[in-house]
Amino acid sequence: MTDNLSLLRGHVEQALSEIGDLNALEALRVKMLGRKGEITQLLKALGSLEPDERRELGQRVNELRRNFEQGLNDAKAFLLSREQAQNLRMEQLDVTLPGKSRSLGHRHPLLIVMDEMTDFFSGLGFAVAEGPHIETDYYNFEALNVPKGHSTRDEQDTFYIDESAFVLRTHTSPVQVRVMESQKPPIRVIAPGQTFRSDDIDATHTPVFHQMEGLVIDKNVTMGDLKGILELLSKRFFGERTQIRFRPSFFPFTEPSAEVDATCHVCHGNIPAGGCRVCKDSGWIELLGCGMVHPLVLSRLGIDPEEFTGFAFGMGLERVAMARFDIPDMRLLFENDVRFLKQF
Ligand code: DAH
Repeated sequence: MTDNLSLLRGHVEQALSEIGDLNALEALRVKMLGRKGEITQLLKALGSLEPDERRELGQRVNELRRNFEQGLNDAKAFLLSREQAQNLRMEQLDVTLPGKSRSLGHRHPLLIVMDEMTDFFSGLGFAVAEGPHIETDYYNFEALNVPKGHSTRDEQDTFYIDESAFVLRTHTSPVQVRVMESQKPPIRVIAPGQTFRSDDIDATHTPVFHQMEGLVIDKNVTMGDLKGILELLSKRFFGERTQIRFRPSFFPFTEPSAEVDATCHVCHGNIPAGGCRVCKDSGWIELLGCGMVHPLVLSRLGIDPEEFTGFAFGMGLERVAMARFDIPDMRLLFENDVRFLKQF
């Protein structure tokens, strides 16, 4: 038994030094201290020895057991710390590496203009109204005093859907009709959005474009109010020096009607020798069409024109954005070329 003991001690030391992972460690523990483990067997065998021998051997076997248990604990601690170090190495982060740059998107120039306009009008107490892109002939034309066969339909040729009962709206003016139908005066709304005409594409025309409509109806609203608001708008948008002019015009749904221009914010009317690209040497930038809402439009929608008056305007947002940012070609606004879009 003494020989056995020495052999076993050597064996245990060898096995402990060779343990490679926690599974092997557990296997060794069972092999030595399990119910049928080698050290367990020795401890059991002590019972059959003479008392003297038992005392002496017992001490040694117990010492072996303590040493083995201590060895197991040390090996376990070593394996765990090695595993931790490995994990740490795998999760290592080199904070000195250059970062991955993420390019941030931003608003499209058209949207910038639309948002600024909306902000301006909200500040004056206007609400934002919306209407569908697919309109009925009634809202887009008839209710605005443009009966079938009227010559102004020629300028607003559109995309007809369903044998002309439905059209893609050619302007944001049908939103006026929808608002007057559903609200009582006082009314103060703007309606920004997409509009469509079957125009050929060139530097100043695209079949899809954007407008912003405005409508104010109340008691004692005059053309002076319209002028005041448009003056404020153009100064805010193109600078304090900006002046506006009204040119008499015709729209079937306003009377009187006007087109409004603002002085060119680049040359201010002093056209340089090389010409002014922004206003095309005219000194003026076309802003919008407007007028006093036609009494027929009002009365047809149940608003008494003797009691209420109102003004309306419709502005092409591409034109404004082009003037504002000096964009030479409308197509640039729709091509989604990042090199272009990055500049705003
Ligand atoms: N809807 C017109 C167009 O697209 C613009 C316009 C003119 C709108 C006069 C108005 C207005 O509200 O009063 O050509």
